[in-house]
Amino acid sequence: MNKQLKKDLGAFYTPAHTASYMISLFNKLNEKAKLLEPCGGDGIFIKSILNKKLLKPKQIEVWDINLQVEKNIKNLGVKFTVKDTLLETNLKSSFQPIFTHVIGNPPYLNKQSLYIKNNKNKLKKIYKEIGVNDTYAMFIYLCGNLLSQNGELVFIISDTYRTLGIHKKLRYWILNNFTIKEITLCPPSLFKDSGTMIQTSIIHLVKNKFPKNHKIKFNDCRKNELGDYKGKIWMVSQLDILKYPDYVFYFKNNINLLNVLTSANEKLVDFLEGGLGMHTTNNKQYLALIDYKDENIQLNKKNKNIVLFQNIKQGNGWKIYHKTGGNNKYYKKPKYAIKWNKEVIKKYKMLNGLEQYKEKQGFIISGVCSSLSARLAYKGAMWESNKAMCFFPKNPRKYPVYFFIGLLNSKPYNELIKIINHTNSIQIRDIRKLPMLKFSKKDLKQISQTSKFIIDNLKKNYAFDFKKYQNSINKIIIKYIKKYEKQKS
Ligand SMILES: C[S@@+](CC[C@H](N)C(=O)[O-])C[C@H]1O[C@@H](n2cnc3c(N)ncnc32)[C@H](O)[C@@H]1O
Repeated sequence: MNKQLKKDLGAFYTPAHTASYMISLFNKLNEKAKLLEPCGGDGIFIKSILNKKLLKPKQIEVWDINLQVEKNIKNLGVKFTVKDTLLETNLKSSFQPIFTHVIGNPPYLNKQSLYIKNNKNKLKKIYKEIGVNDTYAMFIYLCGNLLSQNGELVFIISDTYRTLGIHKKLRYWILNNFTIKEITLCPPSLFKDSGTMIQTSIIHLVKNKFPKNHKIKFNDCRKNELGDYKGKIWMVSQLDILKYPDYVFYFKNNINLLNVLTSANEKLVDFLEGGLGMHTTNNKQYLALIDYKDENIQLNKKNKNIVLFQNIKQGNGWKIYHKTGGNNKYYKKPKYAIKWNKEVIKKYKMLNGLEQYKEKQGFIISGVCSSLSARLAYKGAMWESNKAMCFFPKNPRKYPVYFFIGLLNSKPYNELIKIINHTNSIQIRDIRKLPMLKFSKKDLKQISQTSKFIIDNLKKNYAFDFKKYQNSINKIIIKYIKKYEKQKS
């Protein structure tokens, strides 16, 4: 299969040890079972089931959109149909439960994929209950509906469904229609041999109303050697997850943090303005690397415009441009400048009124980062949407920019954001969910001053070790999180 077809079909094949582990999760594979593999590919699951003599070929049905896999699967003696599973499963009659078991590794194609773009309207009609966001989510919905009472489904899927806002409806549907037996979090290198690093998890569902005291087993194997499925175990009440904000599949049981998220009356963004930035439509043409001249900054000059920092300061048709994500906290020297004159501005895609912030001191939050990271923005700078968000305090006298930077870089806020969205791609809608705690004037000042101290030192020495100062900020915030819990109870 060529690379492009592989990408278009999301055809990344499951390693044999993963297929084996997934099959071992099934409880009742017996002579009455009828198993479906809704996107068979090279048939790894079926081969393994037949080799282990767990089922007879006539008990198995396989579907796949790709005609190229037909011969291979038919040779196994099972029933095979070439079809677009998501669109061509006869929905009027087929939402009759007909399979006792479903297993698979459905394609992970998101909204930007050609498949979803080309079939959006048709898919919307069928999958309106959970939304048309990712093919793997639609495969779960379809196959969950094809399962008979007490039937079992085991899928390996991208694990964005655990917290992302777009999958809230899917989580609600799963929680209400299935007992979630186990969620195994896999190491990101699991599909390395297929040329992709992706966070995946194996989900094992049983179709019935879950018993009130049922606990979901989260098996965290993310740091295990490949093939080792004995991970750190967390047991979480399914009923409790239905009470979590947006029904996130959060498993660390930090009740304090959950309480703060659900109960804080005020949100951080109530005290901020700004957020979304702009796009140039052609970075190569309109951006330049900044040359600080006196400092030993390595510039990769290949194919890049260069502009002297001195010239930007003089307002010479350029502005500083924050366009990078990453884990830099508190302060990072801006790397890019953007052309800025009446003519070019017309070409940029930006919200009206962004220039109202040019005299204000803001801070950047990385949109792509493994830990929540905030840092001082350059006054008058512009910023690129997605990779960086820029916010400005509405009342900087009472709540200085340094306060927000210290708060967001703290350990508790890093943990809070992971409950809201555990992936490395943070959106404004996630930031909107962060709570504001009721800090005393003294603590607010302490956080702000410590944060400013860290920034001032990083400006002088980019390798400044601020761990102990960060810890002192963390301590103040943790005190409030605990206090908050007491107030609530
Ligand atoms: C991630 S691969 C999994 C293959 C195999 N089950 C495995 O785990 O090794 C996804 C498979 O889904 C198939 N596929 C993609 N879109 C499909 C669709 N809409 N309907 C049916 N099959 C589809 C691809 O051809 C590919 O074989």
